[in-house]
Amino acid sequence: MGGASLLRLVSAALLALAAGMVAESAVPPPPLPVLPIPNAAQLAWQRREVIMFFHFGMNTFTDSEWGTGAEPPSLFAPAALNASQWMDAAEAAGASLAILVAKHHDGFCLWPSAYTAHSVRASPWRGDLVRDFTDAARARGVDPGLYLSPWDRHDARYGRETEYNEYYLAQLRELLAGYGSVSEIWFDGAKGKNETNMTYHFQEWFQTVRQLQGAINIFSDAGPDVRWVGDEQGSAGTTCWSTVNRSSITIGAEGIEKYINEGDPRGTDWVPPECDVSIRPGWFWHRNETAKPLSQLLRIYYNSVGRNCVLLLNAPPNTTGLVEDADIARLREFRAAVTRIFGTDLAKGSAARASSERGAGFGAGNVLDGSDDTYWAAATAEEDGLKNGYWIELRLRPAASAARPFNVVRIQEHVALGQRVERHEVYVDGVAVATGTTVGHKRLHRLARPVAGRTVKVWFAARRGVPLVSAVGLHLDPYATDVM
Ligand SMILES: *[C@@H]1O[C@H](CO)[C@@H](O)[C@H](O)[C@H]1NC(C)=O
Ligand SMILES: *[C@@H]1O[C@H](CO)[C@@H](O)[C@H](O)[C@H]1NC(C)=O
Ligand SMILES: *[C@@H]1O[C@H](CO)[C@@H](O)[C@H](O)[C@H]1NC(C)=O
Ligand SMILES: *[C@@H]1O[C@H](CO)[C@@H](O)[C@H](O)[C@H]1NC(C)=O
Ligand SMILES: *[C@@H]1O[C@H](CO)[C@@H](O)[C@H](O)[C@H]1NC(C)=O
Ligand SMILES: *[C@@H]1O[C@H](CO)[C@@H](O)[C@H](O)[C@H]1NC(C)=O
Repeated sequence: MGGASLLRLVSAALLALAAGMVAESAVPPPPLPVLPIPNAAQLAWQRREVIMFFHFGMNTFTDSEWGTGAEPPSLFAPAALNASQWMDAAEAAGASLAILVAKHHDGFCLWPSAYTAHSVRASPWRGDLVRDFTDAARARGVDPGLYLSPWDRHDARYGRETEYNEYYLAQLRELLAGYGSVSEIWFDGAKGKNETNMTYHFQEWFQTVRQLQGAINIFSDAGPDVRWVGDEQGSAGTTCWSTVNRSSITIGAEGIEKYINEGDPRGTDWVPPECDVSIRPGWFWHRNETAKPLSQLLRIYYNSVGRNCVLLLNAPPNTTGLVEDADIARLREFRAAVTRIFGTDLAKGSAARASSERGAGFGAGNVLDGSDDTYWAAATAEEDGLKNGYWIELRLRPAASAARPFNVVRIQEHVALGQRVERHEVYVDGVAVATGTTVGHKRLHRLARPVAGRTVKVWFAARRGVPLVSAVGLHLDPYATDVM
């Protein structure tokens, strides 16, 4: 028997032994979730991170933000409306979902609704923008969403509770039964302070939406699926929970802003926040306005996506019916900057270790594999946490550490099993560089200046249950000259 075949025999025996051992020590199951947890549609929505809004309608032609409802349909006359060109903007921003304002407060409908004469049907344009928009979106791989303003300053039924709610529901049915699958429906609680009193039948509306679109996300101040963040500047609280008590939020009420901006660590409903903000000063196009500078859009990104939110960016088409080239260029610049910052992870290739590990499949190294589905899980035993605390440490590659400073720390929780982290601290070679409260789907710390070191340690000082961390990343943001 030659040396080579002996070696083969021995290795075969070792393999058999190893296989036997694996069979006996099967991998541990995932830990129990900490309730509440997201449903499938909410999880998919969260991972979109940036989505688009298109405000276009009567206001575009009257140079206003809130129409009165008295505008004649003849004013709606875009010379070269092209919804497909709007998708150039969505694509430039890297958005996978785009929401159209199908009707704003002035009541003018951008589809030929059977229930009113106040629509595109009576305009010189005569098309169906909801059809054009949903077709154009799908053709570009973008999921469509719609906004139907509850407040209607045109319709005479507004203020007559049953009649108007029936009218509104009939229009919801037109939108959600007639244009294929719709991924998000947007409701706001806007109402003129000194205008006709009107009680909106949100429960009837929400249940009708569910009946017509099973996988849709319903947005309002209080969800049920996605909540307003409480401002129109694109800024979530530095503490931002995906959880709230829906029963504590009255849609459209004043004084709810702080609660929905920060969420509720004891909240029993999973209703993560969405940050709506326009790339221009107004929601609608005005000749005298231009897009915000890149630095401001990046700050918005850090304050929204970087605080556990989805960013809903509005790009208003002009009176021609096109998004201005300059706005599309700004969106492209924005996406290029995000890619430049986050396309390179300086933590890649590090060695990860942690205070404890749950076992095979839940190792510390999972935070470096670029997947939201794998995660480091600490051991569940309480005594383990009491003894060691909960932390994860990256030992950077020697070549990377000295040469490549970073000024952004990215931390992500595996929120499919609940949002857990209440307080955390980040240390570079033992020196604290960032502290924060919640993490959620994604937390970005933009440091005051670039740092370099051999180890980066994230300490989870307070949490609900054991932390489940899907990513720790380190990035260099070359645009960070005016850090928050
Ligand atoms: C509409 O926009 C799309 C995308 O930019 C473009 O390919 C198409 O040629 C435009 N259609 C017209 C009629 O200009
Ligand atoms: C509110 O409405 C009343 C009655 O219609 C009117 O007299 C008053 O001027 C309005 N106030 C404002 C601030 O618009
Ligand atoms: C509006 O109507 C609701 C329900 O009928 C009522 O409870 C509320 O007090 C009214 N608000 C005003 C300002 O009149
Ligand atoms: C939310 O509900 C939970 C459970 O009932 C409760 O403990 C918590 O105090 C509530 N939050 C607020 C702000 O009321
Ligand atoms: C631009 O014009 C609109 C309408 O005339 C006005 O409401 C808005 O404040 C103006 N925007 C700026 C930035 O001056
Ligand atoms: C609207 O934007 C398009 C694309 O930049 C441009 O060609 C057109 O002139 C603009 N229309 C107005 C009224 O500014």
